[in-house]
Amino acid sequence: IWMTLRFFAHASFQTRTDDGQSIVIDPWLDANPLSSVKSKDVSADYILLTHAHGDHCGDTLKIADKDTIVVAVSELAGYFKEAGCKTHAIQIGGAHNFSFGTVRVVKAEHGSMTPDGRYGGLAAGIIITINGYSIYHMGDTGLFGDLKLIGDMQNIDCLLVPIGGNYTMDPSDAAMACSWLKPRFAIPMHYNTFPVIKQDPALFANACKERGISVKIMQPGESISL
Ligand code: NI
Ligand code: MN
Repeated sequence: IWMTLRFFAHASFQTRTDDGQSIVIDPWLDANPLSSVKSKDVSADYILLTHAHGDHCGDTLKIADKDTIVVAVSELAGYFKEAGCKTHAIQIGGAHNFSFGTVRVVKAEHGSMTPDGRYGGLAAGIIITINGYSIYHMGDTGLFGDLKLIGDMQNIDCLLVPIGGNYTMDPSDAAMACSWLKPRFAIPMHYNTFPVIKQDPALFANACKERGISVKIMQPGESISL
């Protein structure tokens, strides 16, 4: 298999499959101080959203065109449907096969309110599996024990894990999550965007190393092949 993973910045990523499909997760680029890529430079066949906070879904309407499918929990999908998007509503614990692969939605411990103040449904993590290769975007979450269950249920190749603290896990919590999820490697996200989530990703990498987990620290704008 061949696909690429691009880190825009914060929690925004893009996966491209070998047949050219673009899957964007949590797009927030134009107001993102760390992203040199802007929404006008990005196209998406699918936009996957973990929750309704602006730093995760903020540029969805700018990137979505008439064919883009926005995938989110029902309440958030409904919000984007009202705004004119094609959507696919899903819920925690559910999975669906799309043209590029499978999306499974799992729990995250976090809030979710849309930019106009409406309830955005439950915050989620998203596991995408393409040709047997799994990427788990944890969204914004604190540490919770059911991550052990997810680790038992699911083979995880690449884990995208928040380490910024304050709103989410910090480096040591995130390393504990990794020890339960046992990914082939982990990529830290959701740090250094604002002063309140300033973190040294080396602390996370070292804590993971002690637990036998590999870490790849991606710079904003960087792409890797999977
Ligand atoms: Ni959030
Ligand atoms: Mn966030």
